[in-house]
Amino acid sequence: MLIVGPETIFAQKSADAAIEKKIDRLLGKMTLKEKIGQMYQVSGPTRDAAAMQLIREGRVGSVLNVNNREDINRLQRLAVTETRLGIPLIVGRDVIHGYHTIFPIPLGQAATFDPELVKEGARVAAQEASSDGINWTFAPMLDIARDARWGRIAESFGEDPFLASVMGAAMVKGFQTERLSDKGTLAACAKHFIGYGAAEGGRDYNSTNIPERLMRNVYFPSFQAAVQAGAATVMTSFNDNDGVPSTANPFILKKVLRDEWHFDGFVVSDWTSPEEMINHGFAADRKEAALRSVNAGLDMEMVSKCYLNNLEELVKEGKVSISTIDNAVRNILRVKFRLGLFDHPYTDTPSTNPFYTDDNLAKAKKAAVESVVLLKNTNHLLPLTSAVKTVAVIGPLADAQHDQMGTWVFDGENGHTQTPLMAIRKMYGDRVNVLYEQGLAFCRDTNKSRFPQALEAAQKADVVFLFVGEESIMSGEAHSFSNLGFKGAQSELLQELKKSGKPIVMVVMAGRPMTIMKEVAAADATLYVWHPGTMGGPAIADLLFGKEVPSGKLPATFPKESGQIPFFYNHNNTGRPAPENVMTLDRIPLNAGQTSLGNTSYYLDSGNRPWLPFGFGLSYTDFAYGNLQLSSGSMKKTGYVTVSCDLTNNGTLDATEVVQLYVRDIAGSITRPVKELKGFQRIALRSGETKKISFELKAEDLAFYGIDNVKKVEPGDFLIFIGGDSDTKLCQKLIVTE
Ligand code: GLC
Repeated sequence: MLIVGPETIFAQKSADAAIEKKIDRLLGKMTLKEKIGQMYQVSGPTRDAAAMQLIREGRVGSVLNVNNREDINRLQRLAVTETRLGIPLIVGRDVIHGYHTIFPIPLGQAATFDPELVKEGARVAAQEASSDGINWTFAPMLDIARDARWGRIAESFGEDPFLASVMGAAMVKGFQTERLSDKGTLAACAKHFIGYGAAEGGRDYNSTNIPERLMRNVYFPSFQAAVQAGAATVMTSFNDNDGVPSTANPFILKKVLRDEWHFDGFVVSDWTSPEEMINHGFAADRKEAALRSVNAGLDMEMVSKCYLNNLEELVKEGKVSISTIDNAVRNILRVKFRLGLFDHPYTDTPSTNPFYTDDNLAKAKKAAVESVVLLKNTNHLLPLTSAVKTVAVIGPLADAQHDQMGTWVFDGENGHTQTPLMAIRKMYGDRVNVLYEQGLAFCRDTNKSRFPQALEAAQKADVVFLFVGEESIMSGEAHSFSNLGFKGAQSELLQELKKSGKPIVMVVMAGRPMTIMKEVAAADATLYVWHPGTMGGPAIADLLFGKEVPSGKLPATFPKESGQIPFFYNHNNTGRPAPENVMTLDRIPLNAGQTSLGNTSYYLDSGNRPWLPFGFGLSYTDFAYGNLQLSSGSMKKTGYVTVSCDLTNNGTLDATEVVQLYVRDIAGSITRPVKELKGFQRIALRSGETKKISFELKAEDLAFYGIDNVKKVEPGDFLIFIGGDSDTKLCQKLIVTE
């Protein structure tokens, strides 16, 4: 089941032929200075007289970090009416998970396993942002993140290439629709190309060492899917991979992106990454940085001025050809024409306020509901029954309007955030008596002076809701952690509340998987809500009181300890896979012999299993899988099979399950992962209902880059799995023949 279809916005060559003629005509009139100007993006120019002068001289192609219609129209008027050729600006902004109406962080959106919902969220963001004159967003972020120490896992769609591909393509379509020149669109930007999430040690900006085959099988697919979906731009990543900074890497920017994927939008640097090549030790100075970047295929430089100040000289010295410059400018102009900027450079004042509309808020709430993952629900404590008359709402994140929105929020306004405390009072205050104590002022707070009040509130309540986790600043760019446990005295607060003897529902707001196994064991139920955005409160309230049922699934593995990282489900088997019941530290005999513990791949202190596997998520009901069948036990390498199973809702509540399809290639020309996600479906079942679920699995879905680095299907034995998470054992054998 492949979401990304062959059609692409940029494949309609007939429409493009007219644009290419316009580009040729315009290019023919441009001076070298004007061409180089198109390759320069300036940040926040309205406060910078020199930048405004450069725009007036036609030496700026794009601006970012301007977020209001008046300023943007003023800058466009300057570019269109005061420059010699009147080329409009493309206006970029980080609209990552919403503009004013904030949706869950992308990691939370991934947990919905609902691409249509992700597409809807991008539509809302595009409509709101474009009403202010923004026409380019630096999203979707498509980095594969296998390391939760890396703060930017929050912006990613998690660890799996298939899930990230499906979600990334959906987000591109949501931002761009089927015609980029329509009103209410944003040009998308597939970032950060490439491998940024594999930063050594999970430390942001750090080097990566991804060999080509792994790059092709794991890190490229989500970007290729975005290009196939028509992504207008691509952003290079800060990291050097195997010694080559992405921003000046011709293998990825020319051979892969242009020659193999036929990408015809433009490539922008991430922030000052050209200039940062001096720090990398890859360029001696800004002039060499400009030389290596432009000749590698970087079209536009964001913020730093290596291009602006050196390209003209490099062309005159014959080190950069004019055709290289023309190609870069052509790519940039192509996107501007496709956006319709030459026809409609200015933004009209909307007739109604486009922000926080009821419809937008409803979509944000739906996304927040579907993003929540139920980690534990002892004795079906949730949803609350009418027996509960008093609840104690406690914790630093119960009423945290800023933090609830999560990382990469520039334009969401705190005052519009509806917190869990607000929602429980407003929506359920007629049903239960609501007590509230913060307990801690913020997540890192170690001041326990308010613990007595928190405990007293718990003692008066029938159930305790404890809201803990991470402040929004704890994830996102440059926010890596070596320890993924709760900060401050949050764990102590939980222990204090347990003295009340009352059942505790822990609600965790976080931008990453956290190593909170012990805290979850101590709580009676746990909802993992990521940073759920503007409507997180109403979403959580409806889940707690049973108007909604959790359906989210983990888009990333939750390790027991940060020392287990990197830990991901689609790992190789190794030559010595550990058995199910590995030795534990407490069982190691004294004076143990050298080989007495069995020489297999596991940790003596934390075993060989994570805390929670990719794809995991509970429901208020119980789903049963059975009767897995293949339409045939074998298929040709050009064929397909239908994989089906019966899914039953054995509980008393109607609910939705994310049914997941995995494959395992038993032997290949290279070692293969123990499982790979190849499909998923959200299935709604009424209480007691059984439904046959089917997937069409094409042989081409099993293709991978093998020993010769060519993507193909390799005949052989496979196992086909279906289940509610990546730990599923329900499988059938499939033979793929020539
Ligand atoms: C930042 C980020 C990138 C963002 C850009 C513009 O450094 O790495 O994701 O889009 O700069 O803000």
